[in-house]
Amino acid sequence: MLFFSKKKPTLAELIPENFTDIHSHLLPGIDDGSKTFEQTLLMMMSLKYIGFSAFITTPHIIQHVWNNTTEIINNTQDRTLLDLRNSKFTSPFRAAAEYFMDDNFNKLVETRDLLTIKDNYVLVEMSYMNAPIQLYTILFDLQVAGYIPVLAHPERYLFYHNNLSEYHKLKKAGCKFQLNLLAVTGYYGNQVASVAEKLLMGGLYDFVGSDVHHEKHIDSFNEKVKIKDLTPLKEVIKNNEFFAFE
Ligand SMILES: [Fe+2]
Repeated sequence: MLFFSKKKPTLAELIPENFTDIHSHLLPGIDDGSKTFEQTLLMMMSLKYIGFSAFITTPHIIQHVWNNTTEIINNTQDRTLLDLRNSKFTSPFRAAAEYFMDDNFNKLVETRDLLTIKDNYVLVEMSYMNAPIQLYTILFDLQVAGYIPVLAHPERYLFYHNNLSEYHKLKKAGCKFQLNLLAVTGYYGNQVASVAEKLLMGGLYDFVGSDVHHEKHIDSFNEKVKIKDLTPLKEVIKNNEFFAFE
């Protein structure tokens, strides 16, 4: 008797045509992502080959680290769009931001000076070591101001790994969850992959993102997907159709 084990697909194989990405660092020279327009163009061509058809890129805004502003991001977006057109690269491309939940972020919420990934959806992140003391106040104030928080890569916050009930608490507090796609290949380690699998099986994710910063991230889309049940992953990837734009 022969036993057939189902072959695991690569992450790239799970990316549908017309995939809209909502998290990346493709604007040149303003964070720890792409350094030059040439690098941006090469990365976008590689991503397009995998199936990415529209790009909402999200440079970091982190006080004292990446002091980006709405104006800096918009200006860099406009220049990049021109350069892309001149290079005959026509995929839809626009910029929002990935906001670190710090004091500066609170001020931006107060003045409603936030770049959104769509409508009132705001991509937020926090330290991998600990949550901000006022986390739930920040999330509350953000929603009172009319925004919907989308928490980037919840699977990467190590301090939640032994306390999965915290994830349910965050969802109850109004957070949407964005899975980093590379997590399911083991790119960030086995523990992150295992937490991502649990969150997928629990139906906690809303959307996915590539969070690509450089070529190594893109190359890793050729790694096999480690998780057992692909159904919830495929469903969450499909949810990104919500963000499609021309
Ligand atoms: Fe990111």
